[in-house]
Amino acid sequence: MLVSATEMLKKAKAGHYAVGQFNINNLEWTKAILATAQELNSPVILGVSEGAGKYMTGFKTVTAMVKAMIEEMNITVPVALHLDHGTYEGCYKCIKAGFSSIMFDGSHYPIEENVEKTRELVKVAHAMGLSIEAEVGSIGGEEDGVVGAGECADPNECKAIADLGIDFLAAGIGNIHGKYPENWQGLSFDTLAAIQEKTGDMPLVLHGGTGIPADMIKKAIDLGVAKINVNTECQLSFAAATREYIEAGKDQQGKGFDPRKLLAPGAAAIKETVKEKMELFGSVGKA
Ligand code: 13P
Repeated sequence: MLVSATEMLKKAKAGHYAVGQFNINNLEWTKAILATAQELNSPVILGVSEGAGKYMTGFKTVTAMVKAMIEEMNITVPVALHLDHGTYEGCYKCIKAGFSSIMFDGSHYPIEENVEKTRELVKVAHAMGLSIEAEVGSIGGEEDGVVGAGECADPNECKAIADLGIDFLAAGIGNIHGKYPENWQGLSFDTLAAIQEKTGDMPLVLHGGTGIPADMIKKAIDLGVAKINVNTECQLSFAAATREYIEAGKDQQGKGFDPRKLLAPGAAAIKETVKEKMELFGSVGKA
């Protein structure tokens, strides 16, 4: 069922677990993630960056594919289709295309401008029944051309954005998109605790879920994180499984070059990664 992410994240927050956002790139990704969520009876959020939306020929294609797959695969767990790190224009495009949730990433604007644009988009999103995520304090690293410095968010600015009626908040706490460098300092739990204190029971979002050690994930959930984004890790496991298949020469045996065979190990690897994350986040059986 395609739903907004509001209810699933309220439930997660109250139940002390987190719902995974897994980014999609194509049919294989979407199918693997939906199948795993259904098998594990877990709610799930499908994240779509603007780059991935463009790659899939546009947000309308994405909505049509996801809605049809939910129906054809008999997916009964709650599924949110969510724009990841949306621009102001991208948010409007996704609202029009039938997404059930958007993220407006105004973290690179001065706080006043972030507040004004978020305020407007909250009204529009809610009038259309979508949930909305906002961001304060940029997430480090690079994702699909969105580059962030990775500073920790100011808890007072988080409160100003949370008070606009958003449904969940992404706040930088030393997290980074992509692989973490050797000298990474870890998550700033003091910042996380201060943000949660200022924002009451607002579900918090942890971006950069790839490579964060399990104990840090658990502590973040304890401190109020109810949504965790994972993108790079599915890409890495897909690439490794595909490489193994080709290096073993399997694409040259029989009809091993058939795309449905060639892409199968990668899809299975994505399923395994998603399963591991859902178990770690505690969302299994929570649909
Ligand atoms: P990773 O690619 O590091 O898992 O981050 C995903 C993310 O935060 C999407 O917004």
